[in-house]
Amino acid sequence: MKSIKAIDFFSGAGGMTKGLQLAGIDVFAGVDFEPSCKDTYEKNNNARFINKSIVDITAKEIKSLFKDNISKGDYTMLAGCAPCQPYSMINTRKKQDDDRKTLLDEFRRIINGVKPHFVLMENVSRLNEENPYFFKFIDMLDKNGYKHEYKVLNAKDYGVAQNRKRLFLIATRVKKLNLSFDNIKAKKQVTLKDVISHLEPIKHNNPSKNDILHKSKELNDINLRRIQSTPLNGGLRTAWSDELKLNCHKNKQVFLDNYGRLAWDKLSSTITTKFNQYYSGRFGHPEQDRGSVINSVSTPNFS
Ligand SMILES: C[S@@+](CC[C@H](N)C(=O)[O-])C[C@H]1O[C@@H](n2cnc3c(N)ncnc32)[C@H](O)[C@@H]1O
Repeated sequence: MKSIKAIDFFSGAGGMTKGLQLAGIDVFAGVDFEPSCKDTYEKNNNARFINKSIVDITAKEIKSLFKDNISKGDYTMLAGCAPCQPYSMINTRKKQDDDRKTLLDEFRRIINGVKPHFVLMENVSRLNEENPYFFKFIDMLDKNGYKHEYKVLNAKDYGVAQNRKRLFLIATRVKKLNLSFDNIKAKKQVTLKDVISHLEPIKHNNPSKNDILHKSKELNDINLRRIQSTPLNGGLRTAWSDELKLNCHKNKQVFLDNYGRLAWDKLSSTITTKFNQYYSGRFGHPEQDRGSVINSVSTPNFS
């Protein structure tokens, strides 16, 4: 039977790979320059982790990787969640020019050289064709005869207890296929209570003995007093006494979510890399005096 064989660029520890595999796509390799992702990636997905920067990968290498892993008639797919901030070529290659490029340009270079049957790209929601890097990406797809569509989707509409808007782009050069986001059905919305209220209660300085991922960052004395003074279930720092307030917050209603608590009957705020620092967003537990834990954000239907 024909299958779709895929390589996931910027795979990290394999979130996108796992989703694609659950959807029936055979992702056989993930590429990321962060070596610490390897163990998690390979343990959770039956796929090989290639620890390289995309900057140092050629389209020829990717074509030969496909050749070694596909059977006659299989389709090929390249997926990638390319960060699109510009970077300088100095520091990434031993070249002395300073072309501003983005990792999206690198992903574009690989797709242009490999011409897979399918392309999937995820990115920040504000991306559109006014962004020159995204414009060049779309232009490359057009020039190679890809039909494509992109749309901002929110994870909350697909059974995840998190407000997470992301731009998704799907493209194919298979003539008989018409890919469309209209074919995706929304799922019933879930709340934080639905997905994490069953987890064992823990203290900020006392991780679970049953699960090494169920631990939250230790809070210093003032931050412990701050979270203890934040009303349970959705409270904000506006409830604090003056001595707990930061100077930069006094008299200003800025970044009101920072130091806030999540609420059981709502969604989590967007998980960022700093989610485990309770003050970096609304990441306080709804009722325990601690920040969020890796275990909860990696719980299915949370993130
Ligand atoms: C937003 S994360 C991707 C998340 C991942 N797709 C997932 O589903 O969990 C972006 C990833 O790009 C990787 N990255 C950044 N620069 C890179 C480069 N030059 N080559 C390869 N990977 C890179 C980072 O290590 C990070 O894991």
